[in-house]
Order: sequence, then structure tokens, then C-alpha cells
Amino acid sequence: MIQLKRILVPTDFSEPSERAAAYAVELAKRFDAEEVHCLHVSDIPADLLATSAYYMTGPSEQFIDQVRNESLKNLEAFIAKNLQGVPVKKAFVEGRPFIEIDRYARDNNIDLMVIATHGRTGLTHALFGSVAEKVIRKAPCPVLVVKRDEREFITPQEGGTGVPPATSPRSIA
Ligand SMILES: Nc1ncnc2c1ncn2[C@@H]1O[C@H](COP(=O)(O)OP(=O)(O)OP(=O)(O)O)[C@@H](O)[C@H]1O
Ligand SMILES: [Mg+2]
Repeated sequence: MIQLKRILVPTDFSEPSERAAAYAVELAKRFDAEEVHCLHVSDIPADLLATSAYYMTGPSEQFIDQVRNESLKNLEAFIAKNLQGVPVKKAFVEGRPFIEIDRYARDNNIDLMVIATHGRTGLTHALFGSVAEKVIRKAPCPVLVVKRDEREFITPQEGGTGVPPATSPRSIA
């Protein structure tokens, strides 16, 4: 018998990770999961370099705090928007994303991880983004991989959290 007590959905706050979260919510409901863990890994050096202000201020403590607080706020907003109706555990860690995601799954006895193939960069030619690829390779648990333009298995419900369609519905011959 499959038991899904703890489901992990890592997020970089991208649209593909929102779609992964919708699967996590649906599975959590079906399997009566204890908790959906929503994890963001803040890669401070990368986040700083992505911010133009860095070039003016340098990596001051104050600036690092600002980046950290912003990530935390984004995580809270992501949870409020995408993980309604299930028990959620918010998780915020600093470090290399792929290392910390797998470490978190191992340390927290995660039964299933739900991850999208792409994230904020979303390169179309690559099958997987670099984080997804490395996470899957070393994952200590089963992983549900949510592809960009796959067929949906969640039927949208009125007022529910059905996965937003990536493509227009296809007709079945
Ligand atoms: N820092 C992070 N913290 C938590 N989850 C993450 C993080 N970065 C990526 N992920 C997860 O991995 C998924 C795939 O993202 P990934 O970074 O592999 O793709 P990408 O951004 O398109 O490509 P790349 O980062 O290689 O340029 C995301 O949808 C998200 O769920
Ligand atoms: Mg990425």
C-alpha cells in the first residue's frame, strides 16, 4: 500500500513550480497526507548577482538580509496562492539548491517529491533545468516530474486548484 504522508514541493516561485504545487495539493488530498513541505533554497550569491543593486552596494550584510527577506516573503506568497486546503510546512534553507533539496527530502523522510522540469530560466531546448536534473539524479525518494506541456490528470473543479492548462485542450480521436 502506498502511503504519502509527507510530500515535498520545492519552489523557485516560477510558473512551472506552481503547476507542480497543484499536483502536490491534489495528491495530498487523495492520500490524506500529513504535510506538504514547500521548500525554497536561497542561493544567496546567485540571488545577489541577479540584482543590479549589488553592483552599487557590494555584498553588505544589510543587502544579504534584504535578499533573504524577499525570498521569505515570496515563499509565503507562493504558499498562500498555490497550497490551499492542505496542511503545509514552510521550509527555507540557504545553499546550493540541488544539494539542499535532496538533503531536505532525506532528513525529513519525504515520501514523494513533486518537481517541474523547468523553473525561472525555462530554457526551451533543454529537457530539464539544471536543478531538476541533479535533484532527480540523487533523489532519496520517488519523484513526480511535471513536464511543461504534458496532458493534465487533474480535472479542474469549480473554485478548486486544478492545474492551469499549459496548452489548449486537445481533442481525442
Ligand atoms: N532555488 C530553488 N529552490 C527550490 N526549488 C527550486 C529552486 N530552483 C529550482 N527549483 C525547482 O526546480 C524546478 C526546475 O528548475 P530548474 O532551475 O532546474 O530550471 P530552470 O530555472 O528552467 O533552469 P536553470 O536554473 O538550469 O537555468 C523548479 O520548477 C523548482 O520547482
Ligand atoms: Mg533555475
